[in-house]
Amino acid sequence: MSDRKYITLKPSGDKIPLVGFGTARISPAETAQVIYDAIKVGNRLIDGALCYGNEAEVGKGVKRAIAEGIVKREELFIVGKLWNNFHGKEHVKPIFQKTLDNYGLDYIDLYLVHFPLAIEYVEPSQPFGFLNSNGELKLAKAPLQETWRELESLVDSGVIRNIGISNFNVQSILDLLTYARIRPSVLEIEHHPYLQQSRLIHWVRSQGIQVIAYASFGNAVFEQVPQGTQHLENLMKNPIIVSIAEKHHRNSGQILLAWAVQHEVIVIPKTVNIDRMKSNLAIDHIQLDEDDLEKISQLDANARFNDFFENTYGFNLPLFN
Ligand SMILES: NC(=O)c1ccc[n+]([C@@H]2O[C@H](COP(=O)([O-])OP(=O)(O)OC[C@H]3O[C@@H](n4cnc5c(N)ncnc54)[C@H](OP(=O)(O)O)[C@@H]3O)[C@@H](O)[C@H]2O)c1
Repeated sequence: MSDRKYITLKPSGDKIPLVGFGTARISPAETAQVIYDAIKVGNRLIDGALCYGNEAEVGKGVKRAIAEGIVKREELFIVGKLWNNFHGKEHVKPIFQKTLDNYGLDYIDLYLVHFPLAIEYVEPSQPFGFLNSNGELKLAKAPLQETWRELESLVDSGVIRNIGISNFNVQSILDLLTYARIRPSVLEIEHHPYLQQSRLIHWVRSQGIQVIAYASFGNAVFEQVPQGTQHLENLMKNPIIVSIAEKHHRNSGQILLAWAVQHEVIVIPKTVNIDRMKSNLAIDHIQLDEDDLEKISQLDANARFNDFFENTYGFNLPLFN
């Protein structure tokens, strides 16, 4: 188990672990066991989302770990995300309640607006995603200011401890900060050596907002990568990452996670494999030196893999521009 390190979030003062666990693309059938194992090996931060389709099973894994005395609820940091179809002010509270019920909890630690993108409402019992049943992206007239008011009211009532944002660029954040009574605690973004975004991270941090990285292993995890990024070799096998891993007697995954953590960026790697769970947690004592950091900084390619192109999500939207 790792010597867990924490960051203190603003404005709540809550502590969040620097290393956590992601839950995307874990099949519902295996999720409860995976989450139970993840907690058992030492994970305390669990990053979930309604759109991953496995919230209820995440909740089962959490419940079992608590019931067996492995962890107390207050030692866990549970994250949920508001999906794009439910930004309308009348939909925020009901859909949040569904997440809370799925998890079987009476509060969650952090609730993120998953994307700065409001799309047409669908009944939560129906399939939802970016595209509707006709394969179209239908935007909704749901201003984020109204969505945020609802989230603030959920914080006031004690069912959400922290609110935050994901996949927002600086323009969206600047606007949000003009009206936020409760400022966002966290920005969750794609982040790895091929997409370092140091200016964004520096500015976001200056605003008292903590960054969480997703896809820390870069293109190693994407089946389809956007046009313009195909030339980049698998980040896990990149000779620079491999040589730094050899130098520190660690694996590439650990170096990629340690690199983010050394920049005070929280990581949430997902794995269904217990050995990888342990390996991903055991990074606290890795100290990359100046030479390592300089070499990794040279890998920046401004290459975003989780982007909306016809060959990735089936539609074209330059959301991050
Ligand atoms: N906010 C957002 O929009 C957003 C978007 C994407 C993801 N996320 C969150 O971020 C989390 C992490 O992102 P991600 O799941 O896309 O990618 P990731 O955690 O960077 O990578 C996951 C993949 O890497 C493999 N893996 C894990 N540890 C490994 C290791 N030590 N060595 C080699 N391979 C390893 C896993 O395979 P095995 O399972 O087979 O080990 C899995 O296929 C997600 O689970 C989700 O919670 C958020």
